[in-house]
Amino acid sequence: MRGPLSAGDFTDRYGRWGIVAGASEGLGAAFARALARRGMNVVLVARRAHLLEAFAEGLRAEYGIEVRTVAVDLADPEFATVVQRTTGTLEVGVAIYNAAYAPVGDFVERSVEELVRVVDVNVRGPVLFARAFAPPMVVRRRGAVVLVSSLAGYQGAPRIASYAASKAFGMVLAEGLWGELRRHGVDVVATIAGAIRTPNYFRASGTDAPGTLDAEVFAETTVASLHRGPRIVVGWFNKLASWLVGRLLPRRLAVAIMAKTTRDLS
Ligand SMILES: NC(=O)c1ccc[n+]([C@@H]2O[C@H](COP(=O)([O-])OP(=O)(O)OC[C@H]3O[C@@H](n4cnc5c(N)ncnc54)[C@H](OP(=O)(O)O)[C@@H]3O)[C@@H](O)[C@H]2O)c1
Repeated sequence: MRGPLSAGDFTDRYGRWGIVAGASEGLGAAFARALARRGMNVVLVARRAHLLEAFAEGLRAEYGIEVRTVAVDLADPEFATVVQRTTGTLEVGVAIYNAAYAPVGDFVERSVEELVRVVDVNVRGPVLFARAFAPPMVVRRRGAVVLVSSLAGYQGAPRIASYAASKAFGMVLAEGLWGELRRHGVDVVATIAGAIRTPNYFRASGTDAPGTLDAEVFAETTVASLHRGPRIVVGWFNKLASWLVGRLLPRRLAVAIMAKTTRDLS
């Protein structure tokens, strides 16, 4: 398939329902809007029920679509079962795992609970999510799974070491699934983010880094590129950075550059 799909072709290709894990604000909300613009009904998942409900109301009013919400912590090992109680027999055709947990600071000073939570939300979470939603897509021979990754996943990253490693996991998981599922008509893509203007990003960094993108641009580009797996990098600056740190630079230099970019995170 070549070129972006029209809204009608999009729902023909993927179906009528999408789900976004981590959808109450920021990038996750932008993903939900990108699906809604294409006429998809959406299931929104996050912890804060009041934010989800308010956002859902806005989507219904603006796009005339159906919206369901699930308030659950993606660190819960049973979260997929909880979500599936709401999705039931819906034909979920696009499944986006956006949420992540990123404690900042030296590894030895982070609590064991924080470090395990990174694995719960960023590693076990996408595995359970893909395992829940990919099998029916395979049966229907249509659908897409999206895992949101990060430039931090290309190399070790001091002060966010466990988060960066978890993002490498998601990237490689998506590539493997892409290789398995494409013959069943299911697209899989790891979408690689540099800095994106989201509430979380501003809480951690307070300012725009070079190449910072609006969440709407990142989400829209990703959703228009579901067929371009196994990996897409959004934005020219991030493409350049990904080529440099991922392919060109010696590992020690890549880690040193990363250390500079994470030095002032809080
Ligand atoms: N922003 C950036 O600059 C940047 C850079 C590189 C990569 N990324 C990647 O982009 C994705 C989005 O990042 P972001 O931090 O900017 O977030 P975001 O999409 O703006 O917000 C995070 C969303 O996930 C939900 N969430 C977080 N933890 C959750 C949990 N344990 N259970 C359920 N829902 C949860 C939050 O809602 P509740 O709080 O209501 O649960 C919120 O809706 C992540 O995968 C991140 O690794 C972002």
